[in-house]
Amino acid sequence: MKDNTIIVGLDIGTTKITTVIGEVAEGGTVDIIGEGTVHSEGMKRGSVVNLERATQAIRQSIQTAERVSGVKVESVFVSVAGNHAKAITSHGLAAIRRNQEIVQSDVNRAIENARAVPLDPNLEIIHTLPQEYVVDGQEGIKNPVGMHGVRLEVDVHIVAGTAGPLLNLRRCVQEAGLHVEGFALHALASGLATLEAAEQGQTVVVVDMGGGTTDVAVFKRGNLAHSACIPIGGEHVTADLAQILKIPMEEAENVKRRYGAALPELADQDLTLEITTSSGSTHAITAFELSRIIKPRMSEIFGMIRDEIDQTLGPVELVAQGVILTGGAALLRGTPELARDRFRLPVRVGRPRGIGGLTDIVAAPGFAAGVGLVLYGIGEDGRVPASVYGPDVHEPVAAPAAPVAVATDLPAPAPSAPVTAKPEPKPSQGLGERIRGWFKDWM
Ligand SMILES: Nc1ncnc2c1ncn2[C@@H]1O[C@H](COP(=O)(O)OP(=O)(O)O)[C@@H](O)[C@H]1O
Ligand SMILES: [Mg+2]
Repeated sequence: MKDNTIIVGLDIGTTKITTVIGEVAEGGTVDIIGEGTVHSEGMKRGSVVNLERATQAIRQSIQTAERVSGVKVESVFVSVAGNHAKAITSHGLAAIRRNQEIVQSDVNRAIENARAVPLDPNLEIIHTLPQEYVVDGQEGIKNPVGMHGVRLEVDVHIVAGTAGPLLNLRRCVQEAGLHVEGFALHALASGLATLEAAEQGQTVVVVDMGGGTTDVAVFKRGNLAHSACIPIGGEHVTADLAQILKIPMEEAENVKRRYGAALPELADQDLTLEITTSSGSTHAITAFELSRIIKPRMSEIFGMIRDEIDQTLGPVELVAQGVILTGGAALLRGTPELARDRFRLPVRVGRPRGIGGLTDIVAAPGFAAGVGLVLYGIGEDGRVPASVYGPDVHEPVAAPAAPVAVATDLPAPAPSAPVTAKPEPKPSQGLGERIRGWFKDWM
């Protein structure tokens, strides 16, 4: 554990690039002292496709966070989307001499033996995450050091990334004048920032819903036990709307954020929009119909996650106790409710917790990975730092006016008048929307 240090997370996503600067105080409490978010450039589905543009955007994100914190950033922990990663769980064994207690070098030997699996030379190991230990058949041991036994076993979850995309990421970060202190799987970072203390004892599925990809991490008693990546994200929902409504992507994005819902039942039933297509014709569409365009894609994402977990771990409702949604696309109205339908599990939206400082800025699901990278940097063991749950940790300040969406709650009501709506980028003129229901009451 590092003390009184600055740790910086750099979340390079498809939609945005976020820098989060954390300061670790004595005792391990974490204050967020800087944040900088810019539109992502040069990235597609978690991969660098244009080195120069990505480098430039990284630089801007870092500079923004530096200005807020007054700190000069030199090195960063960087997120990696799961589509470049391959994960395996490998078993390691170490024999212990009779009448000797287990020491750290025995633990290291067991882990090393688990690591000694043939890996594709095109892969670079990102994480070696020991799960629980088994001593002479006794399972569920978190730390075997000091125990007696003759046989120490461990399951190690190994996550390796494809060398090419990792090299490209490293190159951009270095070109931006920074040292890469480490890589961390995107969904692992999101989980570290959002898992509650009680969930440390359960199996939970963290679903990070970004623009180009949806990253999945399964945590078993606080350890990353499985990960996957679905190559579909919020951008695909936007693209569906753009194609069907025949409007540009930016307008489709605005319509989705302001009026969209993942479940038509939760759409504003009194709302009708007037859409002006790219060719100039106009047509009316209700929010209900809008959501009927959105639902299949969102459903497809959750269906693919379900299939993936069913095939690798078993029926999701049997292996897991809950689902945490993070990432910007988790903000779409009705998303937790749809997820609950698909997974048949309790679902909540995860926001970074257990930190101090600029909590009002980073307490949104889209910042989970950025904050999680800082927490990963503290321990570098892939577990939530113990201090995050400590008694003297600052309570996170709730995001202003943003209700914590819990699937078991009643659906979030649609804003009843435009003045109460969350400030969102104004749709451009071509949209020509008319909100009949709202204005009837309002004018
Ligand atoms: N309020 C919102 N409602 C619906 N979707 C949203 C909202 N805010 C962001 N999104 C979606 O979240 C996605 C971006 O996710 P995010 O986690 O912020 O970035 P990244 O793609 O870089 O991981 C986009 O597809 C965007 O449409
Ligand atoms: Mg992301």
